[in-house]
Amino acid sequence: MSDATGDKVLVTGALGQIGTDLIQALRERHGNESVIASDIRESAGHPSVEGGPFMILDVLDTDGISRICQNEGVGTIYHLAALLSAVGERDPDLCRRINVGGTISVLEAAKVCNLKVYSPSSIAVFGPDSPKHATQGAALNPTTVYGETKVMGEALAREYLGRFGVDTRGIRYPGLISYKAPPGGGTTDYAVEIFHAALKEGHYECFVRPETRLPMLYMDDAIDATLTLMDSSDDSLGDSRVGYNIPCLSFSAEELANAISERIEGFTCVFVPDVRQEYADSWPDSIDGSVAESEWIWSPDFDLSSLVDEMLRGISSS
Ligand code: NAD
Ligand code: SER
Repeated sequence: MSDATGDKVLVTGALGQIGTDLIQALRERHGNESVIASDIRESAGHPSVEGGPFMILDVLDTDGISRICQNEGVGTIYHLAALLSAVGERDPDLCRRINVGGTISVLEAAKVCNLKVYSPSSIAVFGPDSPKHATQGAALNPTTVYGETKVMGEALAREYLGRFGVDTRGIRYPGLISYKAPPGGGTTDYAVEIFHAALKEGHYECFVRPETRLPMLYMDDAIDATLTLMDSSDDSLGDSRVGYNIPCLSFSAEELANAISERIEGFTCVFVPDVRQEYADSWPDSIDGSVAESEWIWSPDFDLSSLVDEMLRGISSS
């Protein structure tokens, strides 16, 4: 596998929940000018737009991606543009087009421009038949279209690695909890919304049942895991490199609400499940990240208690 050609980094979907934090971390590492943020939309005042180069880029435009990479000397692409589960299930055709089509575009550009690619997967690759503590090798039979697109994304990344030598890597992110940008329309959004509602209204109407338990992670840990994987030597990575389960937290919606109640006097939460309950029920409660842990040595810093403290501090001071 040959080295990527340029030193610069391109991020697609950079205005989203993960992109907002990842761009900041990448710019701290590589310098502002070396990290190009891109998205299909513009957002004046957004830190990804203001803090360094920003370009409008539709991930379905393979030639556009190749042109930017060649003209700007890009060697690595973090491909974050996608539709998340709740939005995706509302428009399955669009979800397939953007999630699968966008990944093909990025991989084609990577083949032509010799790029190293980070393309995230999700715990949504698992379906109701996976063990509730899902192992790396558990069957991937999702019942959401979003989950299907993530299984397909892993298969495509594996194919471009095997057939064309493209250096592809990915993590099956759990639900990510952060405060710098709002979540983009996923099933795990309740675990972010609850903090904003608690501080603003003292009350939250949660769209999953109290006992709903899902794998979760604080954003700083997700960014750290991502950069650790991308820094890892190629020969340390095994067959799971396009979709690693990583060590993460697991808590129920009620446990999260209780942790917030302990810190905000009078906070109340009611549970009124909607269609997103079905998606949550089809995913595992927790995941086994031992393969990632052994191949590139990573573990999270934040537990439920420190995550709640950090979210309340971050929202209050922003
Ligand atoms: P997000 O919805 O917050 O952001 C996605 C961004 O992609 C948005 O800014 C949107 O404008 C952009 N976009 C949409 N269509 C586009 C197109 N055609 N061209 C270019 N940009 C386009 O999503 P996120 O939470 O930042 O997720 C990023 C990636 O991580 C996705 O692949 C998602 O499936 C995966 N992931 C996220 C989570 C999570 O909890 N946030 C969990 C598991 C996996
Ligand atoms: N957090 C994401 C979602 O809920 C999981 O991929 O869609």
